[in-house]
Amino acid sequence: MFKFASLTALLAAVPYVLAQSGVRGATACVSGTVCTPSSTSSAAPAGPTINNGLPAFLGGLNTAGYDFSVATDGSFTGTGVSPPVSQYTHFAAEGVNIFRIPWQLMTPTVGGPINETFFNTYQTTVQAALNSGPEVHVIVDVHNYARWNGQIIGQGGPTNDQFANFWSQVATKFASQSRIIFGVMNEPHDIPDLQSWADSVQAAVNAIRAAGATSQVILIPGSSYSSAQTLPTEAGPYLLKVTDPIGGTAKLLFDVHKYLDSDNSGTHPDCTTDNTAVFQTLVTWLQQNGNRQALLSETGGGNTASCETMLNTQLAFIKANSASIVGFSIWAGGAFDTTYVLTVTPNADGTDQPLWIDAVKPNLP
Ligand SMILES: *[C@@H]1O[C@H](CO)[C@@H](O)[C@H](O)[C@H]1NC(C)=O
Repeated sequence: MFKFASLTALLAAVPYVLAQSGVRGATACVSGTVCTPSSTSSAAPAGPTINNGLPAFLGGLNTAGYDFSVATDGSFTGTGVSPPVSQYTHFAAEGVNIFRIPWQLMTPTVGGPINETFFNTYQTTVQAALNSGPEVHVIVDVHNYARWNGQIIGQGGPTNDQFANFWSQVATKFASQSRIIFGVMNEPHDIPDLQSWADSVQAAVNAIRAAGATSQVILIPGSSYSSAQTLPTEAGPYLLKVTDPIGGTAKLLFDVHKYLDSDNSGTHPDCTTDNTAVFQTLVTWLQQNGNRQALLSETGGGNTASCETMLNTQLAFIKANSASIVGFSIWAGGAFDTTYVLTVTPNADGTDQPLWIDAVKPNLP
């Protein structure tokens, strides 16, 4: 999958603004004044327990397939492929407790009704995942890059009312299933107006709750392909103001993605970073903004020595910081075959991929 065809160019324009420049442990001192370290600058405070209703830690994978027909400009070329349901019991037996299941084309016309035929197919897959274990949660991921046929939601494409209507229909279907997590949108990118995007997110959140889905966690995505790296400096300040009609923000989690290859595209077999600096910055930002939480819904690497080492380090860091980053979902299994560059699809004989065995399994819940 060439998921991020334009990302290389995009990242070149994004400055690398990270905490190793001294945010943690920094003191703001002016010569001649008394200088005291800020109380948030040393060891990370544990913070209050956040009642998000989720298991203490979530670990699992994306089961791709229904998304195969959508391009990053939101255009469609087909109907996708159902991921094999056998993977849910396979991975749940290893302790996986989260599956992210992408889809798109649920409403054939903008603002129109759900395609019940397609929804029933999707729902069969979701139910198979939920049935694989009593603690298993499923992220319903709308894999549309904030777009519909090249146009951005709320910014020339579908209106916020149409987007809300779509989410109202989907949330109604899942309202009574508390182990669903609503993924408002996969990987918004090249968004001209971030305040407008936050307004679109707010419309979706309001619609989900108004449909009676009041127990579930909602994942709210930022910009630059849901970048974990740019959230604090790009969309994060806007998304912090999104409110939840059920009160509080314990069930509004930031949806973040991060890869480990040279251009953060998730298209190369080798890894060049373990991302601990990026995630430390994110954890600090979450703590400093009301102890909010995030979920890493896409990450991954090739079945190579570099990725086996670096992904293991990254996931161990996330698990150690689960009060802020509540879990991870690897890209990808599902309908990908075992030759896909980032595959974690099990082999035909039922054995797992080396990356899964060496980097993921040790960091499952
Ligand atoms: C509805 O979904 C089915 C199954 O995916 C598909 O074959 C059909 O073309 C869809 N209908 C429309 C109008 O898109």
